[in-house]
Amino acid sequence: MPPPAQSVSPLAPIGVSAALEAAANPNFQPKAKIFDEFALTDRVGIVSGGNRGLGLEMALALCEAGARAVYCWDLPAEPSDEWVKTRDYVTKLGNGSRLEYASIDVRDQQAQWDKAKEIGDKEGRMDVCIAAAGILKTHTDCLTYPAQQFKDVLDVNTHGVLFTAQAAGQQMRRFGHGGSIILIASMSGSITNKDHAWVSYNSSKSAVLQMARSMACELGPERIRVNTLSPGHIYTSMTAAYLDAQPHLLEKWSSLNPLGRIGRPDELRGVIAWLASDASTFCTGSEYVSRFP
Ligand SMILES: NC(=O)c1ccc[n+]([C@@H]2O[C@H](COP(=O)([O-])OP(=O)(O)OC[C@H]3O[C@@H](n4cnc5c(N)ncnc54)[C@H](O)[C@@H]3O)[C@@H](O)[C@H]2O)c1
Repeated sequence: MPPPAQSVSPLAPIGVSAALEAAANPNFQPKAKIFDEFALTDRVGIVSGGNRGLGLEMALALCEAGARAVYCWDLPAEPSDEWVKTRDYVTKLGNGSRLEYASIDVRDQQAQWDKAKEIGDKEGRMDVCIAAAGILKTHTDCLTYPAQQFKDVLDVNTHGVLFTAQAAGQQMRRFGHGGSIILIASMSGSITNKDHAWVSYNSSKSAVLQMARSMACELGPERIRVNTLSPGHIYTSMTAAYLDAQPHLLEKWSSLNPLGRIGRPDELRGVIAWLASDASTFCTGSEYVSRFP
């Protein structure tokens, strides 16, 4: 006798169970469901750092997967031209999805809690959170690293990520449907970037990896999943500060990757759609990392 079922797919019958049901019932209509598992139809999400770069790319991926509304949080009072064009593109997709913008500093815990509650009040649900806001400072010797600069990096990359996850998680708990929280860490959280003096960044990202495992254990019983995504080198405004000023780094960084090149922001769309969706309902406390060999 198999043990009693502890959970059921929202798309059940699915997979081999569907095949067996089809074999037993000639009226059962077979239907491919693999892409249905990735659908975010009617879901609501928050993306910090969503004004540009990886955050904006990920927000668009959620919209293309059918999310009802994705709220991008970032520092500028008004969104970038790139964000506005992306919002217009989402509108033209015609799938009912909306991209929204709010100016919020992720270091402000209360502001994030309040804004997430406001979104919860308006939308009546909260399903996805991507904490992508982050900063990287210039090369700074670890032995004389200034206290304030170290705190500044941790304030955004570690504390800010926690506050964003709290804000969305509180709403997920409120509505009781579970949810998916994705914290953007970095390969720099587990490897070191030789020849780059980035002790604050590396430390801040390492903390995010353990934060996610910790939160995953606390929130698992509420079906709130918490995972980390740790990209390798990708050309964005953050890395442009290095690559544009020191073009030789492109060859160096490319040679460190097994694929012999740096990544594109759009190459994170698949993993984000997977982690945000019901295609990954048994994944929590995990890190999805693109690291050096
Ligand atoms: N680009 C890469 O190669 C790479 C690799 C690994 C990890 N990451 C991480 O991915 C995330 C996105 O980085 P990106 O490459 O798109 O860089 P980016 O600089 O283009 O984007 C970061 C965004 O975070 C926002 N932000 C910074 N401080 C903030 C604050 N206090 N409150 C709200 N928003 C704030 C910025 O305004 C910006 O829009 C970061 O966490 C970064 O550390 C990037």
